[in-house]
Amino acid sequence: MPPKTAPRAGNADAPPEPKPELTLEDIPGIGATIAEKLREAGYTDLMELAVASPGDVAEAAEIGSPTAAKIIAEARRKADVGGFESGTALLERRKKLGRISTGAKSLDELLGGGVETQAITEFSGEFGSGKTQLAHQIAVNIQMPAAQGGLEGEVVYIDTESTFRPERIVDMATAAGLDPPTTLGHIHVARAFNSNHQMLLVQKAQELAREKRIRLLVVDSLTAHFRAEYLGRGELAPRQQQLNKHLHELLRFADTYNAAIVVTNQVSARPDILFGDPTRPIGGNIVAHAATYRIYLRKSKPPKRIARLIDSPNLPEGEAVFSLTGEGIRE
Ligand SMILES: Nc1ncnc2c1ncn2[C@@H]1O[C@H](COP(=O)(O)OP(=O)(O)O)[C@@H](O)[C@H]1O
Ligand SMILES: [Mg+2]
Repeated sequence: MPPKTAPRAGNADAPPEPKPELTLEDIPGIGATIAEKLREAGYTDLMELAVASPGDVAEAAEIGSPTAAKIIAEARRKADVGGFESGTALLERRKKLGRISTGAKSLDELLGGGVETQAITEFSGEFGSGKTQLAHQIAVNIQMPAAQGGLEGEVVYIDTESTFRPERIVDMATAAGLDPPTTLGHIHVARAFNSNHQMLLVQKAQELAREKRIRLLVVDSLTAHFRAEYLGRGELAPRQQQLNKHLHELLRFADTYNAAIVVTNQVSARPDILFGDPTRPIGGNIVAHAATYRIYLRKSKPPKRIARLIDSPNLPEGEAVFSLTGEGIRE
């Protein structure tokens, strides 16, 4: 079978006027030292400053409150804070919404027709439940033409556990009738070494999305670094705060580039290593707020897996069965 058409160059769905990204140093009063302190405290862009409180910024940058207030006011002026969007504009945006097939019809149906753009889809489940295989498959399928369940798009793949396998992409692409080297070339993979790096990579992804037709951003795993770095009860709040910020940056990416966001979230099968309910995905309520679709995977008779849709605002709860095969995800 001849290789299918390659995704178009450029990103037709990106906003027409990509503004140059301003940095903290573009604010009068912020020099290298203050900028560094702010970044260390997690204020990495103007938007974060714009919505911060003067007290927090003063403490983070070791400056007086009045100075902090001035900096915040300036950040609000300069940041693209957004605001109201008309119902018509919203409807137009929703019309562009795309869907990507997972490779299994029942799972697509469970998701209301496939993985949706302008939304976050979370796959949670224990080790070996198929989260990474699904992420690989969706990264292949998005490259197909619309008639075959794709969006002719490219992919940013943030790999936090070193489980991305180009060989699996080759297997899946071959089975799908896609040219394996082209398919691999359209998947832009980055290893995230820690949670800060993971968050930084979302910003890097924005740069890439201005040039390429990125329609899918995978974070596999969304939560592993956060879980490993913020141990203990006292760190729960800061962890949730950072995770929340990360998720909102992902949502912003989804909206801006009409992209699908696929994140994975491992559920611990070991009650002894975590406090709280170990069978719940970490970041529970935080992810619940941000993710539009949450799929919980569990093992069944091999190679079968059972997917259950949990707390969806607009779809009925239900289950789908699919198989993990050498060729990829199948009905
Ligand atoms: N080449 C393959 N052929 C068939 N099944 C595979 C292949 N590679 C992985 N799998 C299946 O995928 C499972 C691992 O799933 P994975 O997505 O890595 O789990 P998770 O990310 O949820 O921990 C394996 O246990 C196996 O059943
Ligand atoms: Mg995995």
